[in-house]
Amino acid sequence: MNAGIIGVGKFSPERVLSNFDLEKMMDTSDEWIRTRTGIEERRIADKDMNTSDMAYEAAAKAIKDAGIAPEELDLILVATVTPDQPFPSVACMLQDRLGAKKAAAMDISAACSGFMYGVVTAKQFIETNAYKYVLIVGVEKLSKITNWEDRNTAVLFGDGAGAAVMGPVSEGRGVLAFDLGADGSGRKHLYEDENNHIIMNGREVFKFAVRQMGESCINVIERAGLTKEDVNFLIPHQANIRIMEASRQRLELPIEKMSKTVHKYGNTSSASIPISLVEEYEAGKIKDDDVIVLVGFGGGLTWGAIALRW
Ligand code: ACO
Repeated sequence: MNAGIIGVGKFSPERVLSNFDLEKMMDTSDEWIRTRTGIEERRIADKDMNTSDMAYEAAAKAIKDAGIAPEELDLILVATVTPDQPFPSVACMLQDRLGAKKAAAMDISAACSGFMYGVVTAKQFIETNAYKYVLIVGVEKLSKITNWEDRNTAVLFGDGAGAAVMGPVSEGRGVLAFDLGADGSGRKHLYEDENNHIIMNGREVFKFAVRQMGESCINVIERAGLTKEDVNFLIPHQANIRIMEASRQRLELPIEKMSKTVHKYGNTSSASIPISLVEEYEAGKIKDDDVIVLVGFGGGLTWGAIALRW
């Protein structure tokens, strides 16, 4: 039995915050942000829209796309570092709101790699026949832990949600291989401080990300028994265009085979990979039987990559 993605959905708040808007708020420039990160604008959730609200919007679409009823879900996994509150989990809020009566529910804390950790966890339950349908949501309201006085970080992040329903798929499809990892000794480079603000050593995170993203891409291809030539599409975590480019070059893929949504949404942490997946799928860039590599890195430090056949 193989486990694969059978439905997807995404949600982005309406409010757009452009680089030009940021120029008015702090000592920065559109030129600096664009050339250093590739970001042009990001979406920011209103005060009364919480993480669970965004998660619900994306999840409802993914369940519809999968053609199942919420009551059929066996497990709900929500990857987030910005839950509405420490407990109850966002997953429990979602379970109630969706009416997913028989689903178990928990949150996953692996920062920007959270969606990858969720997909791999879901795969275990499905392939062992314990569960049939698992909902995974990557969702963040990073604006609430952003220090709007710190130009080093404030220009980077955005809010949003992406979701996938996983279930049994035919032989040879679905998740083919994965690579998850962590290096807690790097936790000092990216964390939330006692004032609930993101603290980041950008250069250290940059170096780690370039090295690890490339390595993880190669690992999953090899573990799946594939070669670089077999890869049809790359969906990297959308943190910084220069980091994304490094993994694309490692896979020797042409530019049109890499998802790029960072210019529109900034870094939405655990939501960035599923949001990009949905955008590419809806744009018709992902076709049946395509081999796709998803790869992310984040606070922890953590990383995760998956090779799957659509
Ligand atoms: N506008 C203008 N100038 C700025 C800004 C800004 N928004 N931010 C920093 N600067 C200045 C710095 O103060 C510095 O000035 P100085 O040399 O006088 O001290 C100068 O720009 C250069 O700063 P660098 O840090 O060298 O810039 P760099 O090219 O490394 O780019 C960046 C910084 C974009 C943060 C890069 O290091 C990066 O992308 N790192 C990875 C970050 C990342 O991916 N984080 C997400 C992790 S995922 C998660 O878990 C949330």
